[in-house]
Amino acid sequence: MILITGGAGYIGSHTAVVLLQAGYDIVIFDNLCNSSKVAIERIEQITSQPVPFVEGDIRHERELQQVFERYPIEAVIHFAGLKAVGESMQKPLAYFDNNINGTVQLLQVMQQHHVHQLVFSSSATVYGDNATREFVEIMPLGMPTNNYGYTKLVIEQMLEKMAQAEPQWAFANLRYFNPIGAHPGGLLGEDPQGIPNNLLPYVAQVAVGKLASLNIFGNDYDTPDGTAIRDYLHVMDLAQGHLKALQYLRGKTGNFIWNLGTGQGQSVQQIVQTFEQVTGISIPYQIAPRRAGDIAAFWANANKAQNELGWKAQYSLDTMIKDLWNWQSHNPNGFNT
Ligand code: NAD
Ligand code: WQD
Repeated sequence: MILITGGAGYIGSHTAVVLLQAGYDIVIFDNLCNSSKVAIERIEQITSQPVPFVEGDIRHERELQQVFERYPIEAVIHFAGLKAVGESMQKPLAYFDNNINGTVQLLQVMQQHHVHQLVFSSSATVYGDNATREFVEIMPLGMPTNNYGYTKLVIEQMLEKMAQAEPQWAFANLRYFNPIGAHPGGLLGEDPQGIPNNLLPYVAQVAVGKLASLNIFGNDYDTPDGTAIRDYLHVMDLAQGHLKALQYLRGKTGNFIWNLGTGQGQSVQQIVQTFEQVTGISIPYQIAPRRAGDIAAFWANANKAQNELGWKAQYSLDTMIKDLWNWQSHNPNGFNT
């Protein structure tokens, strides 16, 4: 059985579907601080099976202990954590506590129960503001431009040191680029609280009429159209990457790192244009100042994941946006139906 921390959240819920459909037994552990129990019901609806769910906090040792006592857990996929970049600059301690301390608690309980396989949600943010635009795993890491990213760097380094000291561990550090899109059936997707921080959820809420217009943060970057470039990948491709990493870890020990991205960069302007083409809805926008901490352009070199995991992103940008729009237009209020 696989424990999925943060499995009620955006990426975790899609990964839960992929694991269940691949025949794994799972248990989801989530404190619902940024998600809804309705997501669990939707996972059940999509997969036509009951999903064990425990409401709890990874920082609370007793709650985690109970899960490990109750279920025969063999490996953990660890999504639980806070992820709002701006908030992390105002409340660093909340990020250190949930992300770093929470991961330490989880590792301690895993160790007590002789579970040594962990897939960790890392991020391209660990490369920092690097001179190179194509990020490859062997590059030296940089200092992330925000406190959220810093927690990912610290956790990656902790896992590296643990694997060196205690060779029974097997860790997969998955460095996600920019996950977007939704389950193709329209029952699961991203449901940000309040005004979205990220580009695609914001654009989708403009399209659905909840927000008036998009601010494009900067059109004076050193890129072909002046707007910033990112590597957007479909959340279902990302979920598939977790399945592959889990399968790879089985029977192995060590600390492994894989980028998960498409290898292609898209500018903010290209995203807006593609959204308009795919949905037929025009997105009013204005150019705003650059957002603090943003980097001009980066994308993944995803060859390592392809060679070692046999993973390659399959979905086109059009499909990512089509699926996002299917989710957003059928669930304009997210899981608050
Ligand atoms: P999300 O907020 O939708 O999911 C995280 C889940 O963890 C939520 O359901 C939340 O309720 C839960 N959670 C938070 N703190 C918890 C705690 N202390 N105990 C138990 N549960 C807790 O976010 P997501 O986009 O699905 O991201 C999942 C993971 O991937 C996070 O670790 C995030 O930092 C990482 N990540 C996300 C992105 C992205 O762009 N979405 C990119 C790179 C990495
Ligand atoms: C993409 C581009 C913005 C909103 C963040 C985190 C990263 C990872 C993924 C979790 C940028 C521009 C955005 C808007 C805009 N998260 N933009 N108007 O910043 O690449 O990555 O999410 O791990 O760590 O930093 O993603 O979607 O916020 O922005 O013009 O209203 O869209 O400036 O160039 P980002 P994003």
